[in-house]
Amino acid sequence: MSISKRSDASGHFVSVIAPAKINLHLEVLGLRSDGFHELAMVMQSIELADQLQFTSTADGTISLSCDNSSLSTAGDNLIVRAAQLLRERSAFPELGVAIDLQKRIPIGAGLAGGSSDGAATLVGLNALWGLGFSQQQLEDFAAELGSDMPFCLAGGSQLCFGRGEQLEPLPVHKNSMAVVLVKDPSVSVSTPWAYGRCRELSGSRYLQQECDFEQRRQSLRDAPWLNPLRANDPPPLRNDLQEVVAPEVDAVQVSLKLLSDLPGSLAVAMSGSGPSCFALFADLASAQTALASHKQALTAAGLTSWCTALRAEGVTLEL
Ligand code: C5P
Repeated sequence: MSISKRSDASGHFVSVIAPAKINLHLEVLGLRSDGFHELAMVMQSIELADQLQFTSTADGTISLSCDNSSLSTAGDNLIVRAAQLLRERSAFPELGVAIDLQKRIPIGAGLAGGSSDGAATLVGLNALWGLGFSQQQLEDFAAELGSDMPFCLAGGSQLCFGRGEQLEPLPVHKNSMAVVLVKDPSVSVSTPWAYGRCRELSGSRYLQQECDFEQRRQSLRDAPWLNPLRANDPPPLRNDLQEVVAPEVDAVQVSLKLLSDLPGSLAVAMSGSGPSCFALFADLASAQTALASHKQALTAAGLTSWCTALRAEGVTLEL
């Protein structure tokens, strides 16, 4: 796919917000013929976000700098991979960019920080380079780069099926809910390891037939707690990877226990493949009060904590 003409709207500088996500529901249905897991999920954007700045350069290079030295800025970073893919599809090999990442989403946390940065790169460079790719084209590029990336691009509240890349948006309702998030900064969980362990422990119980997958998808679409998402009927929260990861990662058990002790906490779960965990609150004020009263206990247990509202959109160009 390529386009022959760049828009005159291209400029020299673009800034993009890349929000994190949590999983309100992560159900492993079975194994696919491509080796990935067939999933039924509800993903939700949150206001905790990275910020990326893109400055066009005339030398045809793609470079990345970051305020967190523990992150690779080389060709393995999804930001660089997304920039290379977009340039390749544009058929303008001379395009260059200097990207600066301000990292606020914890790394290796199950919050899709890397995927959101990659999605933000597709949106930012589409604007900076004036390429004119549609939202659908950008979502297709995103799906090539990672299972969570199309969601990060679209954001808000979405049902995510397939390997996570097939989106069905949930109706947007004004939603005041917020979360307290925690993560032990010394622990990270490899996503392939978590899925591999899930297969070892639960593979014999996986569904096999497409009709069984579809039945599970439909019951999630029909779930009363989703129609609409509201604080007075809070999500039951389910994460099938939690059963696999928690027994082997002490930080997850400690996080879930401390979060469920927070006053006003409606439900707690691990996000994605962990190790970050969250507690859901009716509104931001209750989440802030609960965190303020328990911050010391969380810190004493080695956990970094955040308080953040749910967000109705994914990556966003700042104008
Ligand atoms: O697509 P992504 O690169 O985020 O996936 C990382 C890894 O997580 C995959 O290589 C695979 O091991 C596992 N995975 C899976 N099923 C999915 C998504 C991810 O098994 N639906």
